[in-house]
Amino acid sequence: MKKVALLGGSFDPVHNGHIAMGQAAIDQLGVDEVWLIPARKAPLKERVLTNGAHRLNMLRLVCRDHPRFRICDVELKRNGESFTIDTLETLTSQFPDIEFTWLIGADQAKQFDRWKNPKRLLELARFAVADRNDALDELDVREGMVYLPMQPVDVSSSEIRSGMKLNLMPESVRQYTLEHELYLPAWIKPQMSDHRFAHSCSVARLCRELAKAHHLDEHKAWLTGIFHDIAKDLPKEEQAKWVAAAFPPQALKEHPAIWHGYAGSEIVTRVYGVYDPIIKNAISTHVKGTSYDPYAMIVFISDKLDPLRGYDSSALIEACMNDLYNGFLLVKAENRAYLEKERQEKEK
Ligand SMILES: [Fe+2]
Ligand SMILES: [Fe+2]
Repeated sequence: MKKVALLGGSFDPVHNGHIAMGQAAIDQLGVDEVWLIPARKAPLKERVLTNGAHRLNMLRLVCRDHPRFRICDVELKRNGESFTIDTLETLTSQFPDIEFTWLIGADQAKQFDRWKNPKRLLELARFAVADRNDALDELDVREGMVYLPMQPVDVSSSEIRSGMKLNLMPESVRQYTLEHELYLPAWIKPQMSDHRFAHSCSVARLCRELAKAHHLDEHKAWLTGIFHDIAKDLPKEEQAKWVAAAFPPQALKEHPAIWHGYAGSEIVTRVYGVYDPIIKNAISTHVKGTSYDPYAMIVFISDKLDPLRGYDSSALIEACMNDLYNGFLLVKAENRAYLEKERQEKEK
């Protein structure tokens, strides 16, 4: 009889913890395949899930690297909440010659009585409870369940959604989330003040509009805008560390107000997986406006003309929409005049 392990979840997004669990079922329980079952709407959870098509696409990327993993879309196709009991009834009648094992974590095992129809669930399939090797004593493995020893990967989808532990998702999935702007801007929110967050979103919006006006890649411009101040609220010592890691020593001799651009261009790569040299260049030069690459000009302009800054920048925005290069020169000149005035006032 063919043996299949079933792993249900929101997969919003799929991460290394899910993959490790499926792999453990292959290694420890000797199953032939692991079927990943994305929920349409998870019971016991309030949150609205990311569009099912995106979650499916991310799972497809995982299956490409793990040939024994498959996707089962039975829950996505069914309306309403995704109860395991309905899924198991469907699968066992549809595939009578397959022996199913449903994979759950220790937390789910503890609240198993809250699941719909737990008695029937245990008749339909074997349940395997994944947990650390040393946790067996505390583990609630009841009749009809088996223990699946594994070292769980300490990560949850909600941590990833809020921008933490981004290295614990497959790189292909991380690139997909960036490409489709799935968890941005939420990723950057915990890294900055509310004020800076609003500014970053507003700058990103203006970047996108400028890119559109000049027939450039709108998504690339938006990414540049959303990340441009990612390092600005970090303590100066921490900014300096990032700068020192990626730039020649003279970068740190520049005014500390400039550092966050350099630091940001390194953080986007190391933390968020943005490797595009055009985006990195635009972020690193955004403070002074020293690059004439169109994306660098766009983020410099958008940063200085951000409507949230509280002065009327509409005429300059209009000028930049019509002519990027000359608009950029105008904004630079205005900025220089503003800084000069500020300097003179300080000296008074
Ligand atoms: Fe900045
Ligand atoms: Fe800014």
